[in-house]
Amino acid sequence: MKSSDIRSRYIEFFRKRGHAVIPSASLIPENDPSSLFTTAGMQPLVPYLLGAKHPAGTRLVDVQKCVRTGDIDEVGDNRHLTFFEMMGNWSLGDYFKKEAIEWSLEFLTSKEEGLGLLSNRLYVTVFKGEDGIPRDNESIEIWKENFKKHDIDAEVAGEDEIIKDNVRIIPLGKEDNFWIAGQVGPCGGDTEMFYDTRPEEGSVSGKFSDLVKSGRIIEIWNNVFMEFNKTSEGKYEKLLKPNVDTGMGLERTTVVMQGKSTVFDTDIFEKILGEIKSKAQKKDERAERIVADHIRSAVMIISDGVVPSNTEAGYVLRRILRRAIRFIDQLGINKEEILSLAKVVINELSYAYPILNEKGNEILEVIQTEDDKFRKTLNHGLKEFDRYTQSIITDKNIPEKDKMEKLYSSPKELSSNAVFNLITTFGYPFELVVEEAKERGMKVNLDLVNMLLKKHQEVSKAGSEQKFKGGLAGTGEMETKYHTATHLLLASLRKVLGGEIVQKGSNITAERMRFDFNWAEKLTADQLKDVENLVNEKIQEKLPVEMLELPKEEAKKIVTTLSFDLSKYGDIVKVYKIGDFSTEFCGGPHVSNTSELGYFKISKEEASSAGVRRIKAILE
Ligand code: ALA
Repeated sequence: MKSSDIRSRYIEFFRKRGHAVIPSASLIPENDPSSLFTTAGMQPLVPYLLGAKHPAGTRLVDVQKCVRTGDIDEVGDNRHLTFFEMMGNWSLGDYFKKEAIEWSLEFLTSKEEGLGLLSNRLYVTVFKGEDGIPRDNESIEIWKENFKKHDIDAEVAGEDEIIKDNVRIIPLGKEDNFWIAGQVGPCGGDTEMFYDTRPEEGSVSGKFSDLVKSGRIIEIWNNVFMEFNKTSEGKYEKLLKPNVDTGMGLERTTVVMQGKSTVFDTDIFEKILGEIKSKAQKKDERAERIVADHIRSAVMIISDGVVPSNTEAGYVLRRILRRAIRFIDQLGINKEEILSLAKVVINELSYAYPILNEKGNEILEVIQTEDDKFRKTLNHGLKEFDRYTQSIITDKNIPEKDKMEKLYSSPKELSSNAVFNLITTFGYPFELVVEEAKERGMKVNLDLVNMLLKKHQEVSKAGSEQKFKGGLAGTGEMETKYHTATHLLLASLRKVLGGEIVQKGSNITAERMRFDFNWAEKLTADQLKDVENLVNEKIQEKLPVEMLELPKEEAKKIVTTLSFDLSKYGDIVKVYKIGDFSTEFCGGPHVSNTSELGYFKISKEEASSAGVRRIKAILE
């Protein structure tokens, strides 16, 4: 089955069951400053999931374009993508578990109307109950009834999550089967459907998570039963009417339907990868996949009106495009060909997104302009490279022995700091620095440079990657300082006000910091002065800022506040410790010593919303 058929069958199946077909919303969220891109099908529908009336009714079906760049460095393996499409059917206070599960199984298995998958290769997870929310026995019963229609007596796995014999229903905890986008908003337990991809290996048996890890069974669909709205205080408020939010990744489903082991082997990538391979001088599977994925993302992001820039979505687009260009060069593809690659993507996706045809030329122009700009940067970097080495070599004031030290870590090895500067200051791609060095008969200490870069990348990743996650907006030095100052401010507020103060919001630019926290009354002038003084005291104490990576449970024991939900984080979390004054969960980045911050000054204190105050402050 072609991916285009999966798309149309899905839409048609739910249209026939009373769902209005709605178009994909933009990749750039409207009225949602907390997020750079649409990352899930439900995101544009949040207001309706919270109770607003949708003009198309209470049953909707769509295919939503999504971009997630949190794992951009993983693209090129066999499963990560930055652009993907999510099919979804929605009940806005209309049907609930019974219909949702029944239709899911029907769509998955029906030969006539659905995907024609085999019911005896399906496994499902349900929410086992946690944190005062009960186990979803209703879904378990509904699954049992529906499996029975296929002559399957589905049994429920125990706490050990072992699949054997007739076990098909696996109850799992919040980490796996409770869905929320980010920290707040509509949420609820979910039921996820998995398919056995390798029946030739015999019957499925073993621990559920191991079977998923090995790729034996893969997730294809998630039905979220949204019953709550999680508030910024961390409370789960019951929604007036529960909703159903489902998400079925088009790419993943296509892998299953076409019996492939990766999405790059499906028809979705056939044309673009074919074009890349035919233009390349070298074979490099990873580079081919990166170029294919990134050109798709770039075309789609540009079609929604974004142009490359140094901030927000424009910055992410710039990174995606430049990364694509690097790998185009690496493959030995002629630089002009970037446009033919983009044209393939435009042609391939225009059946689903006709706007691509209308905007085709505009999209190509944006790509061309960025390509020119980046190549100029590269040339500039190249000149810098020569200028830098030459200026040191010919400088009569530097003794010969120091020249060596300045330029080379050892004879014929380029100083790692010089390499690092070329990369970070001039946007010179790492791979090219190594090549250039080679051409000049010099080596680069890859390990050392990699280490420097890794440190640096952590900083930029935390910065540019999704305000969605941590409220961090920038990557620069000032932003880093403000970020550390935020921790000092929180700890100081706690000391001065003497209450359980937690962060309710944070926004940082290179010019100032803004911090929201739970406090009902206006702070007095004395309180403000005390807070300001305490922060400055801690700056003057030159406290070290340490980053600890700890198992989540360990971390929970030492941090001062749990300002946000940790369930979406990995098992190992980062904790930043400032002397003995502050210990908080945080992705960073931070300065390494508080002495770097300068002088802290509160510029404004005001109400943000009921029970929440806002402080604006600057570092001088
Ligand atoms: N919102 C759910 C998801 O994205 C369906 O997985």
